[in-house]
Amino acid sequence: MFILAPSILSADFTRLGAEVTDVIASGADWIHFDVMDNHYVPNLTVGPMVCAAIRPLTSATIDVHLMVKPVDRIIPDFAKAGANMITFHPEASEHVDRSLSLIREHGCQAGLVFNPATPLEFMDYVMDKLDMVLLMGVNPGCGGQALIPATLDKLRAVRAKIDAYSQRTGRRIRLQIDGGVKVDNIAEIARAGADTFVAGSAVYGAARSTDAHRYDTVIAALRAQLSVLGFAK
Ligand code: DX5
Ligand code: ZN
Repeated sequence: MFILAPSILSADFTRLGAEVTDVIASGADWIHFDVMDNHYVPNLTVGPMVCAAIRPLTSATIDVHLMVKPVDRIIPDFAKAGANMITFHPEASEHVDRSLSLIREHGCQAGLVFNPATPLEFMDYVMDKLDMVLLMGVNPGCGGQALIPATLDKLRAVRAKIDAYSQRTGRRIRLQIDGGVKVDNIAEIARAGADTFVAGSAVYGAARSTDAHRYDTVIAALRAQLSVLGFAK
């Protein structure tokens, strides 16, 4: 039920392939792939070429988080590069419904990302086109920031919307949190309604050379926090 999605933003890029395979061998579920364009956000990261390069290394879901503007032109490129999930920020698309459809037409699952101050209304008329809602716990652009506390109330609000929708339709939508997730707050975040957790610095900053796959201890610690809730994966 819970998905752990380490963000390779905080990985060691000189050995990116090993960072991907190690974190999955350590028990993580998805690879979170942060795409920044130095336009929508003030940072520049990686694109479809790097996604295609890591694709053969794992069968895990590659969860592409687009922090780019515009979004439509790059969506087919990421689908071809092997992305499974593609999420984008509604402010970055002129036509949110069209961008969501485009992602699905290219065979990927689709999601919307909400910045701390972005109102949730963007999701109301496109629920049928959403496989995931991603709430930012920080302002997007870099890793290692502290969770903005108001995110917890916002999570509860999204959880209520998703649960009402699921009851009505029988269709499930994941609720992901990205930014500021740590071992010491993941349980509180889960209690507020998240079921899918991005963690960058908390995972990649906790490598242990004594662990079989470098991240076994931190992934187990994150899972242990979730298991106290009684319904961990
Ligand atoms: C922020 C990115 C996040 C980032 C999270 O703009 O979207 O995915 O890697 O980093 P941490 O987990 O360090 O807050
Ligand atoms: Zn992200």
